[in-house]
Amino acid sequence: MPLPETAHGESAIERKLIHSLTEEQMARFREHTPTSAEYFDRARQVMPGGVPSSFQLNDPWPVYIDRGKGAMVWDVDGGEYVDFHNGFGVMCVGHANPVIGEAIMARHDEGTHFAAPTNGSIVVAQNLRDRFALPQWRFTNSGTESTMAAIHLARGATERDLIIKVEGSYDGHHDAVMVSCYPELDELGPRESPNAVPFGHGYPQAVVELTVPVPFNDAEILEATFERHQGRIAGMIIEPAMMNINIIPPRDGYLERARELCDEHGAKLIFDEVKTGATIAYGGATQRFGVQPDTICLAKAIAGGYPGGAIGMTAELGEVVASDKVHQIGTFNGNPLVMAAAEATLTKVLTADAYEKLESTNNALLARCQEVIDRNGLPAYTQGLGAKGCVIFASEPIYEYRDYLTKVDGELSTLAWLYHMNHGIFMTPGVEEEWTLSIAHEQEHIDRYVAAFEAFASEVSGA
Ligand SMILES: Cc1ncc(COP(=O)(O)O)c(C=O)c1O
Repeated sequence: MPLPETAHGESAIERKLIHSLTEEQMARFREHTPTSAEYFDRARQVMPGGVPSSFQLNDPWPVYIDRGKGAMVWDVDGGEYVDFHNGFGVMCVGHANPVIGEAIMARHDEGTHFAAPTNGSIVVAQNLRDRFALPQWRFTNSGTESTMAAIHLARGATERDLIIKVEGSYDGHHDAVMVSCYPELDELGPRESPNAVPFGHGYPQAVVELTVPVPFNDAEILEATFERHQGRIAGMIIEPAMMNINIIPPRDGYLERARELCDEHGAKLIFDEVKTGATIAYGGATQRFGVQPDTICLAKAIAGGYPGGAIGMTAELGEVVASDKVHQIGTFNGNPLVMAAAEATLTKVLTADAYEKLESTNNALLARCQEVIDRNGLPAYTQGLGAKGCVIFASEPIYEYRDYLTKVDGELSTLAWLYHMNHGIFMTPGVEEEWTLSIAHEQEHIDRYVAAFEAFASEVSGA
């Protein structure tokens, strides 16, 4: 997501060198994407910024994509890339997967929308129950809708207003969570009680004040926050592993303590597994880290490239929905086409075996990137979970947003992105994202990633 340029760290690499290489790579980028430049001009006449979502923007213009197949995508200039962006972590099934295609075509021929329940929704809910060990499920159309529903549910069930949210986490674009996503250094406030900073304009201050940010990975501050707002916290929403400021895993015991504190204070624990859910293990972060939340928010990879989301909940919260105390509604919820894609994804493609393959391919890629880092003495390290991984351009590990802000070298990260884009590797724009592998990624694709990274590393280190 290229919106805020918020990583301000400076590594030992000379700024002059980074700037001159960036200029060189930017010129190369412009040269091989002239048709994207033309599309950008046309697009800006009809879409603000020339993109359907502001997260698709990057300098000098977005690369407009023509098509994808398996692990590959082709842009409108005919440029071929191995896709490590994978639609912001959606396409774990690989592009144009025939299993998903067959399910979609079959459903199409039998009608795609009734706004009445179909068997597909039952089968998908059963699969999610088995994966995530929560008994009740409802459907949404995006991650934003899932986290919005989860917050309505926590507030409705507890009759309280305040929501604890992690500083530097992006949990979707509804009012309650568009707070302290990427605040600037001078906006942060004290670490023990960070300022609630709206992410852009359009959110009433009265609503912003109902969200209480906390730093990730600090159980003591979390405890003090619950105590400071005694009896007023409806719930805590948290990505179990942060995935929108590179990847930050939870410290040992942190999620367990969050669970305990929510229980002690009568608050609901909401896992935002929009990114982690179908990518880091068969049962997502919930299974991987062994902590059971009250609510799980899913979207992205669960529906194999179609716009679907889901929200899992305890039996008690299911009753809150079933009784219509909290209204969980939507014309397209459980849309049969999306359910057909989700059923094929969850039962036929992203099987338990698929996660083993994703993890071992990812581990190989991480190890080879780490080897390049070590050999070239780069101020960086690798981090990964399941299908997801990244190189973090910081010389020491980061544990929370404030580390990201001050320790990650934003300019070096942007340069690495440009190198990848110029060497046939399609990557998420911006400093804060990570790669996502699909089941179509094989050794040859990993080799190409490492070759591009090697080209970057040797030029930056002068090797
Ligand atoms: C952790 C997390 N939660 C929620 C969302 C919102 O999902 P969507 O873009 O489908 O609304 C995102 C999107 O990137 C996300 O990364």
